[in-house]
Amino acid sequence: MKELLQKIIDENKKYTKKGNVATYIPELKKANRDDLGICIIDMDNNIYQVGSYEKKFTIQSVSKPITLALALMDNGKEKVFSKVGMEPSGDPFNSIMKLETTKPSIPYNPMINAGAIMITSMIKGKNNDEKLERMLKFFRKLSGNENLDINYDVYMCEKQTGDRNRAMAYLLKSEGILEENVEEVLDLYFKQCSIEVTVKDLARIGLNLASHGVDIRNGERLIESDISRIVKTFMVTCGMYDASGQFAINVGIPSKSGVGGGIMATVPNEMGIGVFGPSLDKKGNSIAGVKVLENLSEKLNLSIF
Ligand code: DON
Repeated sequence: MKELLQKIIDENKKYTKKGNVATYIPELKKANRDDLGICIIDMDNNIYQVGSYEKKFTIQSVSKPITLALALMDNGKEKVFSKVGMEPSGDPFNSIMKLETTKPSIPYNPMINAGAIMITSMIKGKNNDEKLERMLKFFRKLSGNENLDINYDVYMCEKQTGDRNRAMAYLLKSEGILEENVEEVLDLYFKQCSIEVTVKDLARIGLNLASHGVDIRNGERLIESDISRIVKTFMVTCGMYDASGQFAINVGIPSKSGVGGGIMATVPNEMGIGVFGPSLDKKGNSIAGVKVLENLSEKLNLSIF
């Protein structure tokens, strides 16, 4: 397996030159465009890591399926889906357009920014500190990494530059969809996106979804099976934004990308995969990371379809 992964990383490294690191969050400009790494953890807990696997990066939108699971555990399906839809938007991840043209103006799904902000607003806790603590605890449990924490430089940078997210959140508040204090919700959302991870952390989270919410190492149930199913379904239909259809055909693995360059992928009953390549395509997905998953899926016959 390791040889195969090395070959796939080597062969796809050239694609990093065809994209660019995210610049709309200035801190993310510091990433090295050439980095490309992967980690796979299988159901027997074998761990394979190749390339830039030691690099830390911020989780960004890969956090969205995880907070979705927590919000569903906190509130139940009925409440959550009264405030966020279940349909792909077909628009870029930071689009505001449909919030104005759809009535009631609930975000299309929890994977676009507007939907993810709504999801973050539904995390339970008596104040923001407690909400953050609960969120971090859940991310640490799912990643199996007790040391997971926030990159405060990225967080501060997002807070200073996140006016588009601010606009969406205030629009949602004005429509009565978002009930909490906007600045507090955004503060938590920016912290959530700034959690620092490695590909191994993403692979472990992917594996916990692949095993329907049970930690294969000790049998502990971390997520209800039904919630794990919902999360994976969103990853298929909306996880790669407005490239989700193409990705489903070319790769066929439930996956979620982030502008930090991470992709978390989950092959039910088989493995969790973490990929890192901060050079992004025009839609905000890791350009070489998508190619790596394409090759891997083809070689190991991983498409779920
Ligand atoms: O809110 C934002 O724009 C970022 N914190 C996260 C966006 C993101 O990762 C979209 N991914 N492709």
